[in-house]
Amino acid sequence: MEGHTPSPAASDSTDPFDVSESLVPIRKPQEAGNSSVSFDGLLNDSLLLKEDLSEGCGGKLWPAGMVLAKYLLRQQRSDLANRTIIELGAGGGLVGLAVARGCVVGPSPIYLTDQEPMLPLMETNIKLNNLSPLVTPMVLNWGEPLPDNVPSHPAVILAADCVYFEPAFPLLITTLQELIGPDSICYFCFKRRRRADLRFMKLAKKIFDISEIQDDPDAESYKRENIFLYKIRARNSEAGGR
Ligand SMILES: C[S@@+](CC[C@H](N)C(=O)[O-])C[C@H]1O[C@@H](n2cnc3c(N)ncnc32)[C@H](O)[C@@H]1O
Repeated sequence: MEGHTPSPAASDSTDPFDVSESLVPIRKPQEAGNSSVSFDGLLNDSLLLKEDLSEGCGGKLWPAGMVLAKYLLRQQRSDLANRTIIELGAGGGLVGLAVARGCVVGPSPIYLTDQEPMLPLMETNIKLNNLSPLVTPMVLNWGEPLPDNVPSHPAVILAADCVYFEPAFPLLITTLQELIGPDSICYFCFKRRRRADLRFMKLAKKIFDISEIQDDPDAESYKRENIFLYKIRARNSEAGGR
């Protein structure tokens, strides 16, 4: 796709920061532009994250990313150990970095992916947290051929707040189709801002096996904010029982 996908807020509202911050856990300002995030103490060693919206909407922390990271740290920590993991639309890297800090990583690194302009911010955040070489940043444009070095059919695919721009829906579906193999699980969290966002799930449900996450104690509170958390798998997948 040419150029940038606009920001979620810009695509449905005149307020560029039109997201509820009520779900955002402890996030102490450290120095200009950096936040410290412990996910309600789920990380002993907080993440330091630079936020910078100059290169695109991925430069701030979005509510679905906070929800997904918290769920993974609380409920999936042991299942994520030593798996191949790739994050789509990672922005500054919030979710993947939380997993890298809180889970056992290896032998392959966690791949943080996004469009090219987000690469420097991902790199900065990896450095800020001393998470290289556990985490590798990479350009992955939805709908385009996967980069050679991305593992085919990774065990875990993460995507937070990637549903907000309708023209990008088929591109994201194409990338998910390429990545999700019979053993893959995609943890997919999004905030519904517009009616059109539901069209993504409608489309996805025709192709994948999709179930809403049932074991998140926070679900009731984030559902009130129109945030939804799903597992997406290939139809008849071997990961069906997980
Ligand atoms: C709302 S931000 C979410 C960032 C992060 N996942 C979070 O939850 O904080 C959406 C991200 O999707 C990325 N994105 C949008 N369109 C994309 C495309 N066609 N290919 C790859 N990434 C894309 C944006 O660059 C942005 O970083």
